[in-house]
Amino acid sequence: MADSRYDVVVIGTGPGGYVCAIRAAQLGLKTAVVEKDNTFGGTCLNVGCIPSKALLHASEQFEEAAHAFPKMGIKVGKPSLDLGAMLKFKDDAVDGNVKGVDFLLKKNKVDAVRGVGRIIGPGKVEVKSADGKVQTLETKAIVIATGSDVTRLKGIDIDEKRIVSSTGALTLAKVPEKLIVVGAGVIGLELGSVWRRLGAQVTVVEFLDRIVPGIDLDVAKNFQRLLEKQGIAFKLSSKVTGVDSSGKKLKVTVEPAANDKKDGAVETIETDVVLVAVGRVPYTEGLGLDEAGVKTDNRGRVIVDEHFATNVPGIYAIGDVIAGLMLAHKAEDEGVAVAEILAGQAGHVNYDVIPNVIYTYPELASVGKSEEELKQAGIAYNVGKFPFTANGRAKANQQTEGFVKILADAKTDRVLGVHVLGADAGNMIAEAAVAMEFGASAEDIARTCHAHPTLPEAVKEAALAVGKRAIHM
Ligand code: FAD
Ligand code: NAI
Repeated sequence: MADSRYDVVVIGTGPGGYVCAIRAAQLGLKTAVVEKDNTFGGTCLNVGCIPSKALLHASEQFEEAAHAFPKMGIKVGKPSLDLGAMLKFKDDAVDGNVKGVDFLLKKNKVDAVRGVGRIIGPGKVEVKSADGKVQTLETKAIVIATGSDVTRLKGIDIDEKRIVSSTGALTLAKVPEKLIVVGAGVIGLELGSVWRRLGAQVTVVEFLDRIVPGIDLDVAKNFQRLLEKQGIAFKLSSKVTGVDSSGKKLKVTVEPAANDKKDGAVETIETDVVLVAVGRVPYTEGLGLDEAGVKTDNRGRVIVDEHFATNVPGIYAIGDVIAGLMLAHKAEDEGVAVAEILAGQAGHVNYDVIPNVIYTYPELASVGKSEEELKQAGIAYNVGKFPFTANGRAKANQQTEGFVKILADAKTDRVLGVHVLGADAGNMIAEAAVAMEFGASAEDIARTCHAHPTLPEAVKEAALAVGKRAIHM
C-alpha cells in the first residue's frame, strides 16, 4: 500500500506523466504515479511511437533486402516474410521500453499505484485497482496526464481485426491483400507504409485536397509524389461513409468530401482491412473532471494556462489531454516544465520549436513555420532549398530523394522554419531545432562547419541557399 500523502500525484504514465514524475522526484518532491494499464509508458510505448517504429524499421529492412541489397552486390535471394517473428521483434521493443520506465520510476523512488485514478476533491485522488480495492491518495498537486484515444467515425465499428485503429494495425495476423487507410495523416502514412512494404495494396482516402495537413504544402506535395512512386494510391477530397462487413471482403463506400460537389461519384471499394486513422481525442473517461469542476474546451481538451494550471487550484494538466500537437516529446517537455513549476522553478516550453517527424521512407521532418503560416502572418521570408541529389553522402548511399528547405526572416535572416524530406530526416531536424532555440540566422548555420560526407551538409547548403550562395548547386 502506498503512502497516502504526496507533493505530486500524476495520473497516467505516458511520456508526459512518467517524465513529469521523474523530474518532480529529482527536485525532491514526494511523487506518485497512477496507471490503469498493466504496463507503464502510455500510448507511446505500448501502442504508439515504439511499436510503430519497430515495424517501420523491420519492414524497411525487408524492402531493402529485396530492392537495395542486389544493387550493392549483396546476394541473399528473395527475402521471405515471417510476420510472427516480425511482430515479436516489435513486442520485444515494447517490452524493453516499458520495463525501462518501471526501472526509472523505482530508481527515482516514485511510488507507482496501479488502478484507475479519479479526482474526488482538491488534493484527493481515488484509485480503484483491478481487484476492486480502493485507496485514496492525498496530495498537494495533481497532474492530469491521461493522454488520448482513437477518434472513431460514425457508423464504422472498429473491431481491431478487419476494421482497425492504429492499435489493431500493429498486430494484424496476416498481410492483407488490400488495405484502405482512412486519413492521410501521420498514422495512416506510417502504418500504410509498413503494410505496403510487406505486400499489401494500399489506398489512402483523405478528406482534404492534400495529405499531412499542417506540413508545408510544397513539401507535402513532393512527399505524396514519392509515396505514390512506391505504390501507395491516394484518393483526396474523399470520405469514407460506410463499411459493409457482412461478406468475406469489406465493402467500403467512398464519397466526394464536399456534399455539394457533383463531380465525383460515390464508389464502393472492396478491401480486406480498413485502418481508421482520422486523429485522436483527449482521454478523460472516469477521471471525475465534471465533479471536480475542471473545465474542458469544445473538443474535450483540459483547459490550462501558460503554467499548465487548470481552473481548479492544485490541478494541472499536460500532454495529449491538453491543446497542441499530440507528440510524445511535447508531452515530455510539458511534464518537465510542470514539475519545475511545482518545485518553484521557472518551467517553460517553447512551442515555436517543437520538431515533427513522420517516420516513413523517406522521412519528413519539420520544425517551426511553414510557408503558408508565414504568408498568413504577413511575415516576409527568404527560402533556401537544397536537394539530396546534390549531396555527396546521399549519392553514395543512392538515397537521393527529397530536399532541405529553410525559411528565414527576410529582414533579420533568423531561421523561422526548417523542413527536411529525405532519408534520416528525423535525426537531421535536431540540428535545426537547436539552431532555432538559440535564435540562429541562416548565416549562422551556413558558417557552421559540417562533417563531410554527411547528409546534414544539405542543411548547411540550404542555409547557404537562403543567401543564394549554395556551393554544390
Ligand atoms: P499517453 O501516452 O496517452 O498516456 C496516458 C496514460 O494515462 C496511459 O498509460 C493511460 O492508461 C493512463 N490513464 C488514462 N486515464 C487514466 C486514469 N483515469 N487512471 C490511471 N491511468 C490513466 N508521438 C511522437 O512524438 N512520435 C511518434 O513517433 C509517435 N508515434 C505514434 C504512433 C501511434 C500509432 C500513435 C497512436 C501515437 C503516436 N505518437 C507519436 C503520439 C504519442 O503516442 C502521444 O503524443 C503521447 O503518447 C502522449 O503522451 P501522454 O503522456 O500525454 O499520454
Ligand atoms: P492526423 O491528425 O495526423 O491525421 C488525420 C487525417 O485524417 C487528416 O489528414 C485529416 O484531414 C483526415 N481525416 C479526418 N477525418 C476524415 C474523414 N472522415 N475521412 C477521411 N480523412 C479524414 O491523425 P492521425 O494520423 O490519426 O494521428 C493522431 C496523432 O498521433 C497525430 O496528432 C500525431 O501527432 C500523432 N502521431 C505522431 C506520430 C509521429 O510523430 N511520427 C506518428 C503517429 C501518430
